[in-house]
Amino acid sequence: MSFGRAKPGQARPEVEQRGQHAGLDGRSTSVPRFGHGSRVPGWDEAADLTKDPAVIPDPALTPVPGGLRADVEAAMARYPDRRSATIPALYRAQEEYGWCSPEAIEQVACVMRLTPAYLISVATFYDMLETHPKPRNDVFVCTNISCSLRGADEFYEAMIAAATEDPDVSVRSFECLGACDIAPMASVNGEYVGPLELEDAGRIIEDLRAGRPVLEAKQLRHRRSVDPGANLQAARSAAGQARPEAELPDQNAGRDDPRSTP
Ligand code: FES
Repeated sequence: MSFGRAKPGQARPEVEQRGQHAGLDGRSTSVPRFGHGSRVPGWDEAADLTKDPAVIPDPALTPVPGGLRADVEAAMARYPDRRSATIPALYRAQEEYGWCSPEAIEQVACVMRLTPAYLISVATFYDMLETHPKPRNDVFVCTNISCSLRGADEFYEAMIAAATEDPDVSVRSFECLGACDIAPMASVNGEYVGPLELEDAGRIIEDLRAGRPVLEAKQLRHRRSVDPGANLQAARSAAGQARPEAELPDQNAGRDDPRSTP
């Protein structure tokens, strides 16, 4: 895999190849991307217009794992229009199968009573839904302005180097992930961690391999807030009310906390 990125002062490559995956037919494919990460138009497969469109799958012929069905139904119950649950439903299926495989799409379509084509149109539009097999773990390193100013580009390079030999880890740069206050930061399988230092790249890989929470003391969910109610709420949601707030890792320990001054 090549995850090359232009260093400051270097010309940014116009197009780079990232994310080598096996295609649906087992052949190796790649998704050409511009240097900033967007997919180059024409990367996907053309529809076969000689085929009839796939219909909504027959529940009698489409077995769906119980947990997946329950979660998709719960997502649908949150919205007046069931199509509003498409993204969480596909994301849940991706968790189940590792990617939005044809089988996963078929099962979600069956539960949601939508056509596979509708779901595929959503899955191929959104960057965090994959329609090709991918490594199990996703590390998205934010390289947008706030993170970049605080060393994200160097961390991104370090993360790529740390993950080079690990086929279970995919590393990608991302635009602002909305957590600039912990810049430079990354999302590791959806868990926000930061502020990151170069040594954290190796620790992320070690934690993933060991099956531990990744950089637990740097997880956004444990970060203290000026709002004591927010701290308590975060602690409860993170620990299912099992861990009192006082026991959670305090990443502000030993730092000057400007928020504590009057
Ligand atoms: S710039 Fe990195 S989270 Fe906003």
